[in-house]
Amino acid sequence: MYIDSHVHLDDSRFDLDRDNLIRTLKDNKVELVINIGADEDSSERSVELADRYENIYAVVGVHPHSAKDLEGRDLSSIIKMLENDKVVAIGEIGLDYYYDNSPRDIQKKWFKEQINLALRLNKPVVIHSRDADKDTFDIIKSGVEEGGLTGVMHCYSGSVELAKEYLKLGFYISLGGPVTFKNARVPKEVAKEVALDRLLIETDCPYLSPEPYRGKRNEPMFVSYVAEEIAKIKGISIEEVAEVTTKNAKKLFGIK
Ligand code: NI
Repeated sequence: MYIDSHVHLDDSRFDLDRDNLIRTLKDNKVELVINIGADEDSSERSVELADRYENIYAVVGVHPHSAKDLEGRDLSSIIKMLENDKVVAIGEIGLDYYYDNSPRDIQKKWFKEQINLALRLNKPVVIHSRDADKDTFDIIKSGVEEGGLTGVMHCYSGSVELAKEYLKLGFYISLGGPVTFKNARVPKEVAKEVALDRLLIETDCPYLSPEPYRGKRNEPMFVSYVAEEIAKIKGISIEEVAEVTTKNAKKLFGIK
């Protein structure tokens, strides 16, 4: 059984079949999914899904795209959501210098604020980083050194060398649909080099569909294609990938 460690099932693209999709997860070998917030509204929706369905856990936080919306405000609504037992981490948080939807200094400020919150509440973090390798790493490293921060690099797209630096900090690396793309040399290298007991798998659905569904709406059950590719690269069975990545996700997020 898989854990899809990063989904956005609250997305409107699931409005027509969300309930059916969630109720059939187990039939498709998906034991649990972690629904990830990206702003206050989607975080709230994540909590609602986790309250309604046994096989959904929630992560709440503000994505770098929306960091500007926090200006002049505070994290009190996120803090309130974190009181819920099924909210297992803070995310997705980080830096995105590809889109730059929020000014970089504001992205950094709210990234650090949310890391401080994670340290204070002893919660792991789910990290989004795009075209911001150095700043993301530096901020996480100080969180680890100051307070023992733990977490996962969601849909990791960096180099093998950087992945190894994150492993040294105790972080997990999560791989998604891109590892299945034919020309995705670096993610395949990361899948090969990172030990299975440090890997998580995810879909990031409805985004980033794996082969052979590229361009279509992604779904949690497609996490099997990610597992299959990792198994092929490592020369191990798909069952072993499922078993170990599920154990890793439960350990990181404190799920029994
Ligand atoms: Ni995401």
